[in-house]
Amino acid sequence: MAKMEVKTSLLDDMIGVGDMVLLEPLNEDSFINNLKKRFDHNEVYTYIGSVVISINPYRSLPIYTPEKVEEYRNRNFYELSPHIFALSDEAYRSLRDQDKDQCILITGESGAGKTEASKLVMSYVAAVCGKGAEVNQVKEQLLQSNPVLEAFGNAKTVRNDNSSRFGKYMDIEFDFKGDPLGGVISNYLLEKSRVVKQPRGERNFHIFYQILSGASEDFLCELKLERDFSRYNYLGLDSAKVNGVDDAANFRTVRNAMQIVGFMDHETQSVFEVVAAVLKLGNIEFKPESRVNGLDESKIKDKNELKEICELTGIDQSVLERAFSFRTVEAKQEKVSTTLNVAQAYYARDALAKNLYSRLFSWLVTRINESIKAQTKVRKKVMGVLDIYGFEIFEDNSFEQFIINYCNEKLQQIFIELTLKEEQEEYIREGIEWTHIEYFNNAIICDLIENNQTGILAMLDEECLRPGTVTDDTFLEKLNQVCATHQHFESRMSKCSRFLNDTTLPHSCFRIQHYAGKVMYQVEGFVDKNNDLLYRDLSQAMWKASHTLIKALFPEGNPAKINLKRPPTAGSQFKASVATLMKNLQTKNPNYIRCIKPNDKKAAHIFNDALVCHQIRYLGLLENVRVRRAGYAFRQAYEPCLERYKMLCKQTWPHWRGPARAGVEVLFNELEIPEEEFSFGRSKIFIRNPRTLFKLEDLRKQRLEDLATLIEKIYRGWKCRTRFLLMKKSQIVIASWYRRYAQQKKYQKIKSSAIVVQSYIRGWKARKLLRELKHQKRCNEAATIIAAYWHGTQARRELKRLKEEARRKHAVAVIWAYWLGLKVRREYRKFFRANAGRKIYEFTLQRLMQKYFLEMKNKMPSLSPIDKNWPVRPYLFLDSTHKELKRIFHLWRCKKYRDQFTDQQKLIYEEKLEASELFKDKKALYPASVGQPFQGAYLEISKNPKYKKLKDAVDEKIIIAEVVNKINRANGKATSRIFLLTKNNVLLADQKSGNIKSEVPLGDVTKVSMSSQNDGFFAVHLKEGSGAASKGDFLLSSDHLIEMATKLYRTTLSQTKQKLNIEISDEFLVQFRQDKVCVKFIQGSQKNGNIPTCKRKNNRLLEVAVP
Ligand SMILES: Nc1ncnc2c1ncn2[C@@H]1O[C@H](COP(=O)(O)OP(=O)(O)OP(=O)(O)O)[C@@H](O)[C@H]1O
Ligand SMILES: [Mg+2]
Repeated sequence: MAKMEVKTSLLDDMIGVGDMVLLEPLNEDSFINNLKKRFDHNEVYTYIGSVVISINPYRSLPIYTPEKVEEYRNRNFYELSPHIFALSDEAYRSLRDQDKDQCILITGESGAGKTEASKLVMSYVAAVCGKGAEVNQVKEQLLQSNPVLEAFGNAKTVRNDNSSRFGKYMDIEFDFKGDPLGGVISNYLLEKSRVVKQPRGERNFHIFYQILSGASEDFLCELKLERDFSRYNYLGLDSAKVNGVDDAANFRTVRNAMQIVGFMDHETQSVFEVVAAVLKLGNIEFKPESRVNGLDESKIKDKNELKEICELTGIDQSVLERAFSFRTVEAKQEKVSTTLNVAQAYYARDALAKNLYSRLFSWLVTRINESIKAQTKVRKKVMGVLDIYGFEIFEDNSFEQFIINYCNEKLQQIFIELTLKEEQEEYIREGIEWTHIEYFNNAIICDLIENNQTGILAMLDEECLRPGTVTDDTFLEKLNQVCATHQHFESRMSKCSRFLNDTTLPHSCFRIQHYAGKVMYQVEGFVDKNNDLLYRDLSQAMWKASHTLIKALFPEGNPAKINLKRPPTAGSQFKASVATLMKNLQTKNPNYIRCIKPNDKKAAHIFNDALVCHQIRYLGLLENVRVRRAGYAFRQAYEPCLERYKMLCKQTWPHWRGPARAGVEVLFNELEIPEEEFSFGRSKIFIRNPRTLFKLEDLRKQRLEDLATLIEKIYRGWKCRTRFLLMKKSQIVIASWYRRYAQQKKYQKIKSSAIVVQSYIRGWKARKLLRELKHQKRCNEAATIIAAYWHGTQARRELKRLKEEARRKHAVAVIWAYWLGLKVRREYRKFFRANAGRKIYEFTLQRLMQKYFLEMKNKMPSLSPIDKNWPVRPYLFLDSTHKELKRIFHLWRCKKYRDQFTDQQKLIYEEKLEASELFKDKKALYPASVGQPFQGAYLEISKNPKYKKLKDAVDEKIIIAEVVNKINRANGKATSRIFLLTKNNVLLADQKSGNIKSEVPLGDVTKVSMSSQNDGFFAVHLKEGSGAASKGDFLLSSDHLIEMATKLYRTTLSQTKQKLNIEISDEFLVQFRQDKVCVKFIQGSQKNGNIPTCKRKNNRLLEVAVP
């Protein structure tokens, strides 16, 4: 809600009164109380008409935010609660829109907040004026000039931790659009005495402390400085540190600001070198040295510091050293050089330090001006901001305070002049009668100081220029003479003084009753400070420096430009610059900020009534109000006035159609305000007494409440009505919706019931119909079935008949077909394929056979009967044929083979065949005999004469003649015998003699026994009882056993037609005379080679060992 609140007048939510003009009753107490009340509520600004009274809050208030800037932007001065921004805005707008050059005069005593106020004004203007890269740079440079100047020109004093020790007037220049173009700064009299000496509890200029705290070690080394403050005589020790001030951080800010403003690096460096040189100058100390002429001469105690200064500044050390020891006075081509004593040397040193520093400061201002100078030559609108040192009363007030206070007097003067003038002008403008008012005009004090003949400054200059001994005392004397009668001048020395007995006024002082109070000035130093002398030797030494900045600071040191004329005194210079300033200010539209200091402790929340009262008095604020109120306390243009109070009259409320003035007239008549209480100007209404205004305000407030109630009433009514209507409407909507819903429900229920009923009826109907249909269907089906059965019977009967008929037809057809077939077959058999098959078969068979036989012909094996080869059978069906053929072939080739034989060969083969039949597979000896041809007559008996007898004895054909071994039955030993077989007999004859030993007819041979083994033993068994058998059987052994046995067998068979029994056994009995001996064949060793051995074992056993 707070944000929604729109203020339209400073009269809204006022704490006390925002404009002192409205104060009722108007007196000092009420004035102070009002200020105090507002101060306690953080309202530090109060108006006196267009003048802003600012009380230093000594703490940061949240009233300078960008939002506040926006709030005050483009608003009327009286629209919002008093603020420095309102004044700034007013000034800026009338500069921009009405083309009026402005000046903002900020006054007040030291610590009252002038510098802060000037910065606030500048920052506000910067915030509301045009934007853009170039404009922003200008703004930045203007704003950043402040920290630089403050560092070099401000110091901590007992009254203010950041007291401006110089006066500053800054012209900010704008183009026709109100965009800043640049600026010009003028500075007024720097309090340079501070460089060499500071009162107790105060500090030197900030920059010294800032360098020592903030510079890097390297930089300090470059400047030949040490960080320790106590090392420097020019730095008062007791308050080197200021609470809440970070010198190191400020140093960085300053350097940054210098860069922004446009200082080149080497310039910054030079500036700090000068500052270092000043600081080090203070450390040069002198000692007295007696000279021959009895005078003391000063000598530098420790030349180290001097050396470093010279290195820093590029001055020849000897030159500087000499300048500290001698003083050359030139007058009319005469040069007189005198030595300096220690005091003079110190004076010279301090003078140098002060001059160096103050000239550096002036150079800085010039340099900044160079940077911030407007770049175009177009016509500029100017806004001047004056921040000059405030009125000062110290314990010891010297020349500087005198000058400062003089300046403040002048400002007060211009203030009085301009306010009165403006007031008067307004009255004339508005056509209101002007009534004179009493107020204190300080012109008389200004005159006391600046009068060209009798003024204190003129007096001082006169003293300074006067030949002869001039001291501060002679100056005071002169003052006493000239000014004694002046009502604002007080001194004990003047002859007719009213103050002869005033012990508070020392003899060496004079006192001036300033507009802001009485100030007692010590005359000591006035002359010197006014002279502001620097020995020429020193300025020349400085000029000789190779340091370009220092050289430039002392142009008078150039011997080529020696000017024997005295330079203007400090006092006259200041007077002149103040006069220029005043002239300048008079051409501009003034805006006042009057700063008030609430307490001496630099503390927040403390409001010291006495202190404030004092300031109010000397600032003449009460008079200011009175002047403002002369005749009429309050004025306001008709339009806003009518707008504000129109609700108090029925005719003007809510709208007045007609000129505003007429409206106000009607309004005031209606309210019955006494005529003497107000006056109608051309554009404004003037109200004589604030009471009337407050009455109006009260009425307005009351009426506003009524109106608020009315609005509230109507609003509430409207709200309730709207709500009711809304509810009614809602109710109808709800009801309609509900009804619709209910009807829908009901309808749905009926519908569903109807559907149920309907469905039942339909179901019943359908079932009925179904039943009927079913019945009908069944009837139809029955009829169909009956018909079907009937038709079936008919059909079957017919079928049966037809089948019978068909069978018959078929039988006829079959018989006919058979018969026909038979006939045809008979006729066509020869052509039928069945014969062809057979023929093909037979042909194929024949072909196969033919092929088979042809192949067989080619593959025929050899005709050798022993050849076992026979071609492979080609077809299975020829298996038996093949075998048969093989057999036949074999038989055939055997026959062929046999057919080759002669009769003899035939015989031999017959015998061999016989042998084979007898012995094959029976006797082991047989296989060996197969290959041997049967020769029969191995012994050629006929040819051997030995056997002539034997031959003769046997007349028959000899079949066998061979030598055999006859086994002796007694011992088994063998005896050779010739074995002969003839056609009818077997003969055994002696081998040697050939005598026949035994002759057995073949008919007596019953059996031949032999073993199955590979031996040639055999027994010839004889028929028992025969003649030959008397000696028993023969046991013989022959090499041709098989041949002999075979031939024996054949011969026997052919002679006796009986088969000879041949027994093959390994054990057989042999008849030896009466005994039967068993001949047993055993497997024997091969002791005797392959020859079997026979041994008689016992009577009955003869053992033959066959190998
Ligand atoms: N509007 C303000 N808001 C907060 N603090 C303020 C304000 N004005 C002044 N101060 C405080 O008061 C101190 C002194 O103010 P400032 O330096 O402006 O005084 P001055 O009038 O310029 O004094 P001098 O004449 O010695 O230069 C400031 O350093 C600041 O701490
Ligand atoms: Mg200041």
